[in-house]
Amino acid sequence: MKAVEISQPGAPEVLKPVERPTPEAGPGEVLIKVAAAGVNRPDVFQRKGGYPPPPGVSDLPGLEIAGEIVSGDAEAAGFKVGDKVCALVAGGGYAEYCVAPIEQCLPIPKGLSEIEAAGLPETYFTVWSNVFDRGQLSAGESLLVHGGASGIGTTAIQLAKAMGNTVYATVGSDERVNAIRELGVDLGINYRSQDFVEEVKQATNGRGVDVILDMVAGDYVKRNIQCLADDGRIVIIAVLGGIKGEIDSGQVLRRRLTITGSTLRPRPVAFKGEIAKKLRQHVWPLLEAGKIRPIIHATFPLHEAWKAHAMMEAGDQIGKIILTA
Ligand SMILES: NC(=O)c1ccc[n+]([C@@H]2O[C@H](COP(=O)([O-])OP(=O)(O)OC[C@H]3O[C@@H](n4cnc5c(N)ncnc54)[C@H](OP(=O)(O)O)[C@@H]3O)[C@@H](O)[C@H]2O)c1
Repeated sequence: MKAVEISQPGAPEVLKPVERPTPEAGPGEVLIKVAAAGVNRPDVFQRKGGYPPPPGVSDLPGLEIAGEIVSGDAEAAGFKVGDKVCALVAGGGYAEYCVAPIEQCLPIPKGLSEIEAAGLPETYFTVWSNVFDRGQLSAGESLLVHGGASGIGTTAIQLAKAMGNTVYATVGSDERVNAIRELGVDLGINYRSQDFVEEVKQATNGRGVDVILDMVAGDYVKRNIQCLADDGRIVIIAVLGGIKGEIDSGQVLRRRLTITGSTLRPRPVAFKGEIAKKLRQHVWPLLEAGKIRPIIHATFPLHEAWKAHAMMEAGDQIGKIILTA
């Protein structure tokens, strides 16, 4: 089969089209003919050599796909060969065929293309498990999203708005503030020209937000605490701004704050399968009703995956970049 491999750690150009043996589905797995695959920031980290695949996982990059089930244990989860699905995978998505645990497959929501569906799994699994499960964002509460224009950010904004929450988000330009306004964000903050702590305090009459989805960390940790409401939760999903930050422990104990985080990729199939069930129940109806939609910034043919990475590293995208078969 055709695939794109990381020939060596390095710049986008190390992503090379190659021929690889077609993988075989094992017990509880299906083989999917890939129509489209999402590109994610972790793929960039893997390409640079800093984010190796978990043991036993394909060395090919690619964490999410959409396509057709061609063989395997489809019936185990109510699917059949020939069904069109999207799937979360721990690697191997940049290829003509990819194996996925059946529990991590979801039907392509009615009305969505394979390209749109390929951009769903990584961000929707991540946002659901971190904002709603771990962060416990509940009805009537408010959410602050850092990186609001990212794949994760555009998903978090739309999902929390559809669930009836108030949502604030930080982005790096006025153009991006306008883009996330179209997604329904209550307040977009350009962190280059505005202080997000002050903006959030003002918008909440000094109370602060209930949950913060943070992909920056570093010196944001201290500032997040300053604009978090009593009993608030910070969920760290990436450390784009650095791994070390300052914590005012007095605030944590006096105001009952929670600082937590997680990474999705190494979690077991059963854990991801439980998230898939919740997405199917709570989120797929919203997608099928058109209340939320995947934001696709650009598509590239699979063999030009290096161009997709170069675009992601330039950092101007709003939403998802997708590779097509
Ligand atoms: N924990 C998990 O399970 C999990 C799962 C998936 C993804 N992630 C992480 O979530 C993050 C978003 O993923 P994505 O695929 O949606 O990526 P993406 O679309 O490339 O978005 C990253 C965004 O972060 C913002 N940003 C803020 N500070 C930054 C900094 N210091 N360096 C670089 N970017 C900065 C940038 O937007 P502005 O310039 O507008 O701020 C950028 O658009 C990634 O770091 C990824 O590794 C975590």
